[in-house]
Amino acid sequence: MTIPTDIPIPVSPDLASYLRESTRAAHQDAEKRPLNRALARGTISREAWVKHLEQLLLLHRALERRIDRSPRTDACWRTIADPARRRTPDLEADLAFYGGSPSPAAGPATQAALAAIESATDDETIGMAYVIEGSTNGGRFLVRSLCRALSLDPATGGTRALDPYGDAQPERWSSFKAALQAEPLDPERFDRIRRGADLMFGIVGDVADQFWQEGPGADSI
Ligand code: HEM
Repeated sequence: MTIPTDIPIPVSPDLASYLRESTRAAHQDAEKRPLNRALARGTISREAWVKHLEQLLLLHRALERRIDRSPRTDACWRTIADPARRRTPDLEADLAFYGGSPSPAAGPATQAALAAIESATDDETIGMAYVIEGSTNGGRFLVRSLCRALSLDPATGGTRALDPYGDAQPERWSSFKAALQAEPLDPERFDRIRRGADLMFGIVGDVADQFWQEGPGADSI
């Protein structure tokens, strides 16, 4: 039987569900990146983690700059621009804890990421922010593996980038999702936002990979 190709892709009734469903494969891909595997297994090295945080700092600064550049004040934008959701202070605090650089040189994948973020449309930026905020879901659990790998005590520092909200994470995630759910159904726009989310999943994967092959953590996969 020939499968008809002209059937419209069913769209979930709300943006939060749509993003969750449509980026499932991208999330699975992110989980499989060697750095994330090592993180989940509790085998990541301190050097590899700090190097990664340095590149994430550049990425987050670029995303926050991109968000700030828009004059939008609608509820969805206010949510992604919420100063309490900024992750650069967490990254800076963790880097200070580890003695990492607050102004590292960007690796090749990070340079490409900064250009992609800079040129993202508003809708793509919303998708990108979804990926970053959503990553706190896994971060809540991964923080235990990080502590095991680096012999850390969360009370003394070094875990904020991965677990910025602590016990408040479920509430922070619910309120973020509520903002997405309030967006009116618009399949074409939802797809543009999904494109930004896919872009960001690719970006964080490439940034995680860029130093891994030759990097200090390569032998701990
Ligand atoms: C080893 C790596 C990872 C693990 C084990 C992991 C695990 C998880 C878990 C357990 C959830 C909650 C799922 C649920 O509520 O049903 C989640 C959600 C999520 N994660 Fe990850 N994650 C990982 C890496 C990442 C990365 C690198 C990103 C992107 C930077 C990411 C982005 C997200 C997003 C956007 C969601 C929300 C999905 C939704 O819409 O409900 N994750 N992750």
